[in-house]
Amino acid sequence: TSLKPYNTFGIDAKTRFFTKVSGLKELKEALLFAEAQTIPILILGGGSNILLTQDFTGLVIKLELKGIKVVEEDSEKVLVSVGAGENWHEFVLFAIAQNWAGIENLSLIPGTVGASPMQNIGAYGVEIQQVFHHLKALNRKTLELETFSAEECQFGYRESVFKHRLKNKYIICEVVFQLSKIPLINISYGAIKDTLAEMKAENPGIKEVSDAVIAIRQSKLPNPAEIGNAGSFFKNPTISESTFEKLKNQFPEIPGYKVDEGIKVPAAWLIDQAGWKGFRRNDVGVHNKQALVLVNFGKGKGKEIQELSQEIQKSVEEKFGIKLSPEVNFI
Ligand code: EPU
Repeated sequence: TSLKPYNTFGIDAKTRFFTKVSGLKELKEALLFAEAQTIPILILGGGSNILLTQDFTGLVIKLELKGIKVVEEDSEKVLVSVGAGENWHEFVLFAIAQNWAGIENLSLIPGTVGASPMQNIGAYGVEIQQVFHHLKALNRKTLELETFSAEECQFGYRESVFKHRLKNKYIICEVVFQLSKIPLINISYGAIKDTLAEMKAENPGIKEVSDAVIAIRQSKLPNPAEIGNAGSFFKNPTISESTFEKLKNQFPEIPGYKVDEGIKVPAAWLIDQAGWKGFRRNDVGVHNKQALVLVNFGKGKGKEIQELSQEIQKSVEEKFGIKLSPEVNFI
């Protein structure tokens, strides 16, 4: 089976076995099958944060666990449980239609709800951890569902325990969010403010914020349905204040903002300055409106994108002495 329709990079890698599961029973059966065959497993949600660098010799399980249900509510807030296979952006739109606030800044992020805590998705001043309540994940060894609190997920910048200590040990099946019935909008991110002003939205509500985010994303980020990509390819690096000061002498324009651990520098700026923006070789390249996004124009191979990413890392390191680390998972 070709995995081309199942990864937003549109890489035409093949898998030996493929199955879609829409219930826990089917999921467990698929896991038992793989165990009996002693083959590796790849769990796929929206396939929006992976780069397939070769064919897969095991079983790909596409998670299609669905359902959105309110588990608790009062006049101020609602706890809503969402199946891992639900599309993230459709859930955001659903929440906005109910007037539930908290995730409008995360509009139009590709992928599924189950993948959202995995890398603590974030954009425009909001991260999933701010609205996360708990999740249920299937233990791959015991085949039991276990509950994880926010603390147990160990969220960080594009990080969680599921990318580290518990990597490949659990399958996230259901995520419970706590959303607010009182709209507390967050427009701290400059681009949102500017876009709302352009839209002449004077008293913006969550719908207007969502519309602004959608407009910004559409203007900069390529639509994966048209040009293959997985959003930001690298994470924004954090460097020490002293390193930042030194770089600032050499590159007075360098942007950076203070975080707890030092100064965070936009990887897009570094890649852009290293001359990669709009670069193309065969069918792979660097997006011409956002240098942090690597793209597949059609027939690009995962290996070619991987090689390009390594060349970018090398050139950014040579020019600025900063090592970029990928945000995308290599398979
Ligand atoms: N910039 C350039 N050249 C470019 C693009 C940007 O120099 O081609 C510079 C500009 O100085 C700009 C700065 O980089 O001000 C930051 O750019 P932008 O606001 O587009 O955000 P980003 O840091 O590149 C991050 C996230 C995005 C998220 C946006 C908005 C990461 C790795 N990426 O990008 O997340 O949507 O902020 O909050 O943290 C993703 O994770 O897939 C993703 C798209």
